Parts: sequence; structure tokens; C-alpha cells
Amino acid sequence: MRAITQLGHPVLRQIAKAVPLPLSRAHERLIDDMFVTMKKAKGVGIAAPQVGVGLRLFIVAPEPSVRYPHAPRMDPVVMINPKLIHHSRKIVTDWEGCLSIPGLRGRAPRYHTVEIEFTARTGERLRAELTGFIARIFQHEFDHINGRVYIDRVRDRRTFMTEAEYRKLWK
Ligand code: NI
Repeated sequence: MRAITQLGHPVLRQIAKAVPLPLSRAHERLIDDMFVTMKKAKGVGIAAPQVGVGLRLFIVAPEPSVRYPHAPRMDPVVMINPKLIHHSRKIVTDWEGCLSIPGLRGRAPRYHTVEIEFTARTGERLRAELTGFIARIFQHEFDHINGRVYIDRVRDRRTFMTEAEYRKLWK
């Protein structure tokens, strides 16, 4: 388990660097630690800058939880040096939160569908099309490796809610 960097930490505002491949032992360990840290915090994704490491690497791992009761379930995927190839014109605005910005929720617009490329933990370069909530997590984490956070994307700041009020919506 590693400490989660909080908004204000400079690493969250830096453009992360490409991960050298094949993965070093230290980077393998980093990924293992990111899994543990994400699970403990009940996140549905985590990016390396969120554990203080400025590398282009994140995990996408949606599953229903207290933080995201309506999330779909998917086997977690480690995405190394990801690229956004295409995106839909369609944009959907929906709730997001971030482990680096505890206690806050806001509605951020994201592309409905994205076509992406990334290197998997096995070293394989893969392409995928993601839609809906999974596409949203990808874009949220992709922002993290480019020094952005979801609150930058929120257009209507009146939608911000505390975590406690947000949870009442799903009761
Ligand atoms: Ni985040």
C-alpha cells in the first residue's frame, strides 16, 4: 500500500513520462502496490501519479462499490503508455470522484466511446474500444498522466457535492 497523493501535490499537475519496456522489477512492484492501494481505497481506477510516480501507467478496474454503486464489473486492466486513437462525437456528462480529491463529487463531460491503444502487463500492445463508464474511467486516468484532474473538466460547478450528499442519491 502506498500513500495517495492529494490535490496540490505537484506530481498531479505534471505530464508523466513513458514507461520503459520491458517492465523493470521496480515497476512490476509499483503496479502490485497500485492494485493494493486502489482496492483499499475502493477506487475503480488509479494512475501512477496518484502514488507519487510520474509515469504513463494506470489501472482501470470498474466494479460496483459503495463509491460507485452502478459500476459495471470488469477484470482489472493495467494500461501502460496508453494512447487515445479516436473518440465519439457523443459526449456524456456523469458523476466522477477521485481518490486524490477526497470527499467531493462532480459531473464531468466525457466522450461516450473511445478507441485506445496500450501496452498490457504481458508486454503486448493492444487496441480496444471502450464505452460508457469504462470509457469514462479511461479518460479520467488518462487525464491524470497528463497533469489534469476531473474538476478541471466540470463545466457546471454548481453540481459539486460532498461524498455524504452524493451517497444519499443512491439510497
Ligand atoms: Ni482520479
